[in-house]
Amino acid sequence: MGTFHTTYDNWDANLYDSKHSFVSKYGNSLVELLGPKKGDKILDLGCGTGDLTHAIFKNGVEIVGVDKSENMIEQAIRKYPDIPFKVQDATNLDFYNEFDAVFSNATLHWVQPASQALQSIYRSLKKGGRFVAEFGGKGNVQTITNEITYQIEAAGFEFRKAQFPWFYPSIAEYSTLMEAAGFRVTIAQHYDRPTLLDGENGLKNWINMFGSQLFEGIPEHTKNQIILNVEKNLKEILFSEKNWTADYKRIRVVGVKY
Ligand code: BEZ
Repeated sequence: MGTFHTTYDNWDANLYDSKHSFVSKYGNSLVELLGPKKGDKILDLGCGTGDLTHAIFKNGVEIVGVDKSENMIEQAIRKYPDIPFKVQDATNLDFYNEFDAVFSNATLHWVQPASQALQSIYRSLKKGGRFVAEFGGKGNVQTITNEITYQIEAAGFEFRKAQFPWFYPSIAEYSTLMEAAGFRVTIAQHYDRPTLLDGENGLKNWINMFGSQLFEGIPEHTKNQIILNVEKNLKEILFSEKNWTADYKRIRVVGVKY
């Protein structure tokens, strides 16, 4: 998962584990693409509460998990005491030529500037090392975020661009940034991955977990009303058979350090 929030640590690690474990579940296919080999030294960038770090660790690799959120790292240490976890910022990693691979699932859309993160990742890798990542791409959850911003403005509040916490590049944009950082891009994909948000409250839970920055400066009762309006307007498009489906669009990339 990914938790490089731009301003402060507002991550609720328990809520994340209880209601949003799908993030790690979807990451299992990225672990397959990583192909961890016994003896590899791997960095899990944006490890959250450590579930995928642990899945990779079980392959007999040496692994370090880092995340910007102290709450997430404390929970990861509690869950997996045999794995080293550290609080670190993706744009300023404290590693130099150390890793055979940097792995990152559902994190890099939180990280800006992306160019600085890519330079930091590149520095962390050994020569020939691989960078394997997946995160939100252009158009990610746009149906939801467009409706939220529409409802915020309809409620009489200004929505500033700076409140949008995510970076959702196209593969052309991101490959260009990777190449500028020094990577040879070997895989770049942009694909739809409709994502089930469990239960009647799935959309509300997702907005409360991930979207708090969108509502900065808006009183709690107005925020709740806005979320009710968002649910009402999106029900026909995104709700069926007791569950919500979010319009996730993923970018998946692999790059090699020359
Ligand atoms: C994502 O994984 O694409 C994502 C998760 C939370 C908020 C926004 C995007």
